[in-house]
Amino acid sequence: MTNSFKTFLKHTAKDFHNQSVNPPVVRASTIIFKSMEHIRKTQAKAKKNPTGGHYDYGRQGTSTTHILQKILTRLEESYHVFTTPTGFGSVFLAIFSIVRPGDEIIVSDPVYNPTRALTQDYLKEFNIKTVFYNPQDLNTLEKNITKKTKLIFVENPGSNSFEFQDLGKIISIAKKNKILTAIDNTWATPYYFKPIKFGFDMSIVSATKYYSGHSDVMGGSLAVNKKVFNKVSAAEKITGLRLGPDDAYLITRGLRTLDVRLDRHRENAKKVASFLSKYKKFILLYPYKKDSYNFRMWKKYYSGASGLMGLKIKSKNINSVRKFVNSLKLFGYGYSWGGFESLVLHQEFRETGNRKYMNLAKDEHLVRFHIGLEDPNDLIADIKQALKHLK
Ligand SMILES: Cc1ncc(COP(=O)(O)O)c(C=O)c1O
Repeated sequence: MTNSFKTFLKHTAKDFHNQSVNPPVVRASTIIFKSMEHIRKTQAKAKKNPTGGHYDYGRQGTSTTHILQKILTRLEESYHVFTTPTGFGSVFLAIFSIVRPGDEIIVSDPVYNPTRALTQDYLKEFNIKTVFYNPQDLNTLEKNITKKTKLIFVENPGSNSFEFQDLGKIISIAKKNKILTAIDNTWATPYYFKPIKFGFDMSIVSATKYYSGHSDVMGGSLAVNKKVFNKVSAAEKITGLRLGPDDAYLITRGLRTLDVRLDRHRENAKKVASFLSKYKKFILLYPYKKDSYNFRMWKKYYSGASGLMGLKIKSKNINSVRKFVNSLKLFGYGYSWGGFESLVLHQEFRETGNRKYMNLAKDEHLVRFHIGLEDPNDLIADIKQALKHLK
């Protein structure tokens, strides 16, 4: 019998040895063996089965990280999942595993701004060229492919501007041209979309967000298929980008309720989106309006939506936009998202970066909401009172 993922999350990782419903946190730099023969046997096992959790040094992990990797591998339906100290560590590991000096990489234009800085600026110093494509005009992807292109890096939806892309078309372009693909799937998590099963070679999730769910830990996961496993494994060893056991434990604990929390984030966000969609002063950046391209692309590939959304506000009075944001009482001001609580940010250049294809007019402003697990009626009432300031 194979239980559904929801049941699996509640029943996995029990520790009958210590009679604890949750696994212990195993902290170790030195992993101790009974003899030299024991060390050699373990190393031979690790060579034969590199994903099997056979370690000879703490930097490789302990049983605590292995348990988290096993759970995530099932969630992703992937060959393996690497875990890193931050989500951005997973972005770096994915790219570093594949591209080399002289190569080119194609990246979706509305990518998380630090990913833009890494590819556009930092990789340039190593003679790696980055080209950005328009997420809603994939001709700009196809026409920029050259013999040197090694990786297509997608983030879906676009960071802060929430464009949804035709993922099926991206995979067929990549396969036709024999180019590897990576996606930052933090917004949906594999609970709502499974990239590896769909055809991506690598899939990144910032575990800091919904996996942890409680805004108290940082981590990242990089799921891979068999094709890229050896490359990523080699890069992981060289960089030492591995998650510590305490953080792995907290993320495993968060995952127990991933489905419950995400279902509620989705329901709450839908109610807030329904309220916001009635206003003419702004465009809702969330897959809600059925007649839009974004909605169609979301519906085609995703089984649900998370709690992160945006507003494109049209106003000649930027101070009134600031006043609207500053008058919210139930939304915290701060970076990150995916925790139990609601957050808001007024997006400026620091957040969006120097995009090639974003046409934001002078009187258009971006505001991002993370819809948390509060009573959605309270959140709606709060937005309603703050909206009085928007002119
Ligand atoms: C889409 C996306 N990817 C990656 C990251 C990086 O994750 P972390 O903050 O865990 O390094 C973030 C962080 O905000 C993000 O929003």
